[in-house]
Amino acid sequence: MCNTGKSHRLMPDQDGLQRAAQALSAGELVAFPSETVYGLGADARNDLAVAKIFDAKGRPRFNPLIVHLPDLTSAEAYAHFDNNARALAQAFWPGPLTMVLPLRQDAGLASLVTAGNDTVALRVPAHPVAQAVMRAFGGPLAGPSANPSGKISPTRAEHVLEGLGDRIAAVVDGGPCEVGVESTIVGFDENGPVLLRPGGLPVEAIAQCLGVPVPARTEGGAITAPGQLSSHYAPDAGVRLNATVPRKGELWLGFGPECADATLSLSLGGDLVEAAANLFHHLRALDDMAAPGQSIAVAPVPEHGLGLAINDRLRRAAAPRP
Ligand code: TXA
Ligand code: MG
Repeated sequence: MCNTGKSHRLMPDQDGLQRAAQALSAGELVAFPSETVYGLGADARNDLAVAKIFDAKGRPRFNPLIVHLPDLTSAEAYAHFDNNARALAQAFWPGPLTMVLPLRQDAGLASLVTAGNDTVALRVPAHPVAQAVMRAFGGPLAGPSANPSGKISPTRAEHVLEGLGDRIAAVVDGGPCEVGVESTIVGFDENGPVLLRPGGLPVEAIAQCLGVPVPARTEGGAITAPGQLSSHYAPDAGVRLNATVPRKGELWLGFGPECADATLSLSLGGDLVEAAANLFHHLRALDDMAAPGQSIAVAPVPEHGLGLAINDRLRRAAAPRP
């Protein structure tokens, strides 16, 4: 599929679905309709493809993303379902419910999808075109709402093209979205289900299905709130930022050609999308490599484009530990 800087509007027929699947397999971004809002899809196993989502949306932070799957059976390859989670899946999937569940060790998802966490948000959308795109593609689809960060979520293909038309490969046009608000997000802590975001499925329906109340997440609760990532994975090793040269004994995480001697480089060529794709992997790898007391120096990363999100995450990694 040729992409001349403007994205294609694809019809949800055999040809359009095949093009969408090909673009997704090639690591491109393809927006798709769901019954809630249009999602900005990328192969959830492909680090670079997922990094492109953050770049296209201009997201200032690496919020974790929802992974879309065609059914419960395929979802079970990515997370552990306990009895409550399985009951909700059976009652409300496909539909406007997202569940945050323990990530399976062998899930094979891009680390940007989970923001380096050990949980993953899973959703099985009901929209027939979402189902058709997922089945044509045959893999897990990472997908935030298909709007520029901070703008209103799109409920028509035209909205997607207005906001992101020059930044994505294609949008599959499935007409207007029925629900029009995002999915309800539920997580589980040691006390049971927790409402992380109200949405298209009434919380009362969830409470009725499980036979227990579903309180909204409170400040300081055990589950990380969307956008509130201060408790996210931080390396055990100390982290020193804006290190143009490493000090003696430090591991060095480089960026750009000036850091050719770095232990690992986010991107030798200074590409911010590549750097985002490598960020969580490299932090983890250096943390594993670090001897007790050894710290990680990080080269300066420019404060524009994905650099904003990368620096946000690095500042959290370098912040004093609780
Ligand atoms: O209806 C929807 O949910 C749409 C359609 C496209 O599926 N998607 C959507 O995605 O609204 P997004 O990225 O705009 O919102 C997903 C929310 C974010 O606020 C994110 O922080 C939260 O889900 N989230 C994702 N993974 C999480 C996790 N592991 N733990 C806690 N929150 C998570
Ligand atoms: Mg959104």
